[in-house]
Amino acid sequence: MSQSIHGMWSSRLIFIFAASGSAIGLGNIWRFPYIAGENGGGFFVLVYLACILLIGVPIMASEILLGRAGRKSPINTMQDLTQASGVTASWQAIGWVGAIAGFTILSYYGVVAGWVLFYLLEMSTGGLVNANAQSTQEIFTTLTANPWALVGWQTLFMVMATYIAALGVVKGLQTAVKYMMPALYILLVMLVVWAATESGHFQESLTFLFSFRVEAFSVDALLAAMGHAFFTLSIGMGAIMAYGAYLPKGVSIIGASVTIAMLDTIVALLSALIIFPIVFANGLEGTEGPSLMFLTLPIAFANMPGGQFFGTLFFLLVSFAAITSAISLLEPVTAWLVERLRTTRAVSAMIVGFMAWLLGLGSAFSFNIMSDVHFFPGMTFFNLVDFASDKILLPVGGVLIALFTGWALRQTIIEEELGFAGYTINIWQALIRYIAPVAVGIVFVMKLQTLFTG
Ligand code: PHE
Repeated sequence: MSQSIHGMWSSRLIFIFAASGSAIGLGNIWRFPYIAGENGGGFFVLVYLACILLIGVPIMASEILLGRAGRKSPINTMQDLTQASGVTASWQAIGWVGAIAGFTILSYYGVVAGWVLFYLLEMSTGGLVNANAQSTQEIFTTLTANPWALVGWQTLFMVMATYIAALGVVKGLQTAVKYMMPALYILLVMLVVWAATESGHFQESLTFLFSFRVEAFSVDALLAAMGHAFFTLSIGMGAIMAYGAYLPKGVSIIGASVTIAMLDTIVALLSALIIFPIVFANGLEGTEGPSLMFLTLPIAFANMPGGQFFGTLFFLLVSFAAITSAISLLEPVTAWLVERLRTTRAVSAMIVGFMAWLLGLGSAFSFNIMSDVHFFPGMTFFNLVDFASDKILLPVGGVLIALFTGWALRQTIIEEELGFAGYTINIWQALIRYIAPVAVGIVFVMKLQTLFTG
């Protein structure tokens, strides 16, 4: 099939924007710095980089390949490809695990993106002009303690993301990514220049992030780094597969995967290099957790000339980074509903958006009225869905994708998408057949072991 019924990206560049728009999101700007902080920097960052290169890029290439070969939603693509390859239908689980992971992630993603919208409003109306370590702490605590405010902001975000998804691949997704992605880069670079020249703690931050100490090894950091590599690249749940379905023939899949992973990694590292100098300069703790970005960035903006303007612009762009990721979380199931129920795109997008919103209420409430409800020791609903998605569902989905592409998919399909065997293709194949599954397996086994031995 040369076209998808959902539409097609108009060029290679647009695909790169869309896929990197999916990859670059709250994971990079909000999550990466705080989990790097929680896990002590250096060792975590190194493992993370290794995972991106050895596991992330090859699995991303596999997803794009499967998507382009199938040209349908991940669930139906997997059905077609298992049949075309003459292998057991159990592989179709890949589509379903992905759909569950997508809902789970989108549910809490909407809540955190809602925080970003709140900060956008505060920043633009001058509520943060005098921000210091104490006042940002208060503002964050007040916001998260208020269930209705959280649900309000979450709803606003989900409505916006659903609206774009409802407009469709070309009119909605493509238009959204075309403008937002380049602008985000320019702003990030400006902020890094500020951090490097004005913050006074840039060197310290570099050391924290890049000095590898063997004794910093921990199984939890290992699992966190690996899980985050899946999360930040949007792989393991079919988002990239869905986007691959709209990719014109002739674009190099491996080349595109490397480019997307590189862009994503750069944004994560730059974000950390903006946030950590502020942490060190203000006597904050890098181990703050999910609030880290919201406690630090307003301080930076309060201290820089034109801070209110740049701060507003920055939170606007973080919102867009979040939206371009959210629409990719909506895409697999939305496209599937269109194929399955033959409904319009708008109806499908609204069904998916609504269900993710509903599930998200659990996360919104776990910061206030449900903060005492623990599913495992110390684990709120928010912690639970976060843990289940990036540390379990995405790695499992990703390994299944790697194994399917590496061992079960018919060779002629691979040749059609990647061209005939060559050096890069051999490396890619070795990585998805052996390295990625074994690496993920080892991390899982080590984690299980610590559960028993404490
Ligand atoms: N990669 C996105 C981020 O970093 C999150 C995401 C995960 C999007 C999985 C789609 C699929 O914010």
